[in-house]
Amino acid sequence: MKKSILLTALVATAFVSACNGDKSTPGYTFMDDMYRSPSLETYAAAENTAQGTEAQLPVEGTVARGYVPYDLPNSNEGYEASKNNAAVPAYFAELNAEDGKELYSIFCSHCHGDKGDGNGILMEREKILGIPSYGADRLPDITPGSIYHVIMYGKNNMGSHASQLTYDERWKIIQYVMKLRQDQSATAAPAEPAA
Ligand code: HEC
Repeated sequence: MKKSILLTALVATAFVSACNGDKSTPGYTFMDDMYRSPSLETYAAAENTAQGTEAQLPVEGTVARGYVPYDLPNSNEGYEASKNNAAVPAYFAELNAEDGKELYSIFCSHCHGDKGDGNGILMEREKILGIPSYGADRLPDITPGSIYHVIMYGKNNMGSHASQLTYDERWKIIQYVMKLRQDQSATAAPAEPAA
């Protein structure tokens, strides 16, 4: 009985003595490291790191997750070289063209048209001119590789779309463009029959 009174008194003293009159300080805390974690500020100075700051530069040659380098230069030679499809990933053949439809409608159709005939809304309103149909009659030798090149760097009035699309999204769109190209090529006006 005596023991328990003593214990209660001790606990009560501990509670009471933890408070203090100054409301701007927390008083005594019994689990200090849980209340105040030793977090570091990203760019704060640090003694023990090579560059003198908490945040470190990535190791030389580091590649961001999901980033795929593209080596061909933004030049006529680069464009011609892209046609050999060396940059096309193996999974491209398995992509379902329809998976790129929505992306195409967001990023390309206002210029190239829903059907890829070159009659997007900006063309109709004459904001941008010179947009070709994807059909083989207008663009006889484009390939998935060259379309990738044009998405990366743009071409004349078409700007680069590299920053707006991830690697996978680019190939999805290209698969859809190849489908539109097929449709456009099939519906292209047949050559005038010789009279
Ligand atoms: C601002 C309007 C605009 C947008 C948006 C646009 N394009 Fe273009 N695109 C053009 C124009 C203009 C050309 C013709 C460039 C030239 O040859 O002068 C072109 C050309 C092309 C060509 C043919 C390139 C070649 O090799 O001759 C392809 C393929 C193409 N675009 C794909 C796309 C795809 C895919 C998208 C969406 C990611 C897209 N474009 C978005 C305006 C646009």
